[in-house]
Order: sequence, then structure tokens, then C-alpha cells
Amino acid sequence: MQKTRAAIVTGASRGIGAAIAKRFAQEGIAVIVNYARGKDAADEVVSAIEAVGGTALAVQADIGEPTGMTALFDAAEKAFGGIDILINNAGMMRLSPIAETGDGEFERQLAVNLGGTFRGMREGARRLNDGGRIINFSSSVVGFYQPNYGVYAATKAGVEAMTHILAKELGPRRITVNAVAPGPVGTELFTDGKSAAQIEAITKLIPLGRLGQPDDVAGLVAFLAGSDSQWVNGQVIRANGGAI
Ligand SMILES: NC(=O)c1ccc[n+]([C@@H]2O[C@H](COP(=O)([O-])OP(=O)(O)OC[C@H]3O[C@@H](n4cnc5c(N)ncnc54)[C@H](OP(=O)(O)O)[C@@H]3O)[C@@H](O)[C@H]2O)c1
Repeated sequence: MQKTRAAIVTGASRGIGAAIAKRFAQEGIAVIVNYARGKDAADEVVSAIEAVGGTALAVQADIGEPTGMTALFDAAEKAFGGIDILINNAGMMRLSPIAETGDGEFERQLAVNLGGTFRGMREGARRLNDGGRIINFSSSVVGFYQPNYGVYAATKAGVEAMTHILAKELGPRRITVNAVAPGPVGTELFTDGKSAAQIEAITKLIPLGRLGQPDDVAGLVAFLAGSDSQWVNGQVIRANGGAI
């Protein structure tokens, strides 16, 4: 019988991360449901997984803090033993023109999006089982060059660069490292601060005629975490309905 695999999904209390955690549970993967502030939401994700016979544990850790990822791996190993899959999903987006972006906003997005993913990759490189998977989160906005997205896009461009490099470093251990770069997905990260008219205008730019849903991305992540993708390594896959 195949051994049960275990995954850490950062930022799994809501949005895309919650969809990934639930999808993994359907596939028999034990899941650490990481959250920063949303304990109740994380507990609901765990309950939903347990209700269908899956295994999950909610673990608080702010991945923007220097010790967050180490604490998360410690908790995951204590709960499940070895870890096979790391999904560096947690992220934040604050939009503003570069001229109006304060140091605090810059530092925090850098700390969470790039710093958290870097520390996740470092911990994963040290602690994932051989043959494992690391899947990072970029964004299609890296290729859009739209006003207001300067800092956010820069953090994600850094994630993409490290994805390609870590893939080469971990290849000998059969650990694949890939990134997904979604287009607009209907979560709080995307809708917060946008009017209905702005959301409609963005939706019209998508050839498939709709926003992405968390499950659209979770399906791609499940593929990258599964055995059918074992020859896919060092790639950034843009899932955006054809918008770019
Ligand atoms: N939605 C989109 O249109 C879109 C497009 C391209 C890329 N992405 C990327 O996809 C990923 C998921 O985005 P989403 O849309 O699902 O976002 P979301 O709905 O805002 O959810 C964000 C999740 O990340 C967690 N989180 C935020 N900061 C954290 C921190 N410092 N430490 C630990 N967890 C933290 C949140 O937990 P708490 O609630 O507990 O804080 C929450 O579970 C992000 O990396 C985002 O940049 C999203």
C-alpha cells in the first residue's frame, strides 16, 4: 500500500489555499492548514476535511516573520512525520503607485510574499522527503506591467527567479519545484478595494469570459503535486483564462 503523503499549505484558511487543502484531502493527502489571523476560518477548513474522512491540522504561523516557516515545519513534522509537499501559497497584495508607496507597505509585502516563500523554500530544501514537491505562488501580473502593481509584481518576479534556481538545486533529490501564476481569481485578495465596475472591466480582458475560481487553481496544483507531473520541473505555469 502506498504511504500517505503529507503537505503543508500556507495561507489555507481561505481563498485559493483553502481550495488546495480540500482538494489534497480528497486525494488522501494529510494537510497542514496554515493561517496567520483567521483561526475560525482555518478550523472550518479542517472540519470540512474531517467531515469527508480526511486528515488535517490548523497551525498558526505568520510566514512574514523570520521564525514562521521553521515553526510551521516543526509542527507539521510533529503531527505527520515527514513532509512530502510544500505549497507556498500565502500572500498579500497592496496596490498603489510607486510614488505613493510607503516603506512599511514595501517591506511587509516583501517580507510575506518573497521572504515567506524564500524561507519556505529553504526549509523545504532542508526538510522535505526525497521525491517531494514545492509549488510556489507567483501571479500573471508579473507580465502585465500595470500601474499600481509595482511592489506586488516585484515580489512575485523574485519568487519566479528562485523557483527556477531551486529546481536545479533539488533535482538530484527528485524534488520538483514549480510555480503557478494565476490571473484574477475571485478571492478577497483580488476583490478587496475594487468596485463592481472595475471587476467587470478586468473580467472582460479574460478570453474565457470569467474570473478564475479557487478550484481552477487547486486542480493545477493537484496536478503539479501528483505523479503525472514528475517530469515537470522549474516551470512557471500561468493559469489565467488566456488573459496574457
Ligand atoms: N486572487 C488572485 O487574483 C490571485 C492572482 C494571482 C496570484 N495570487 C496569489 O495566490 C495566493 C493566494 O491568494 P488568495 O487570492 O487565495 O488570497 P486570500 O484570499 O487573500 O487568502 C490569503 C491567505 O493567505 C493567508 N496569509 C496572508 N498573510 C499571511 C501570513 N503573513 N502568514 C500566513 N498566512 C498568511 C491568509 O490567512 P489569514 O486570513 O489567517 O491571514 C489567507 O489564508 C497569493 O500568493 C496570491 O498572491 C492570487
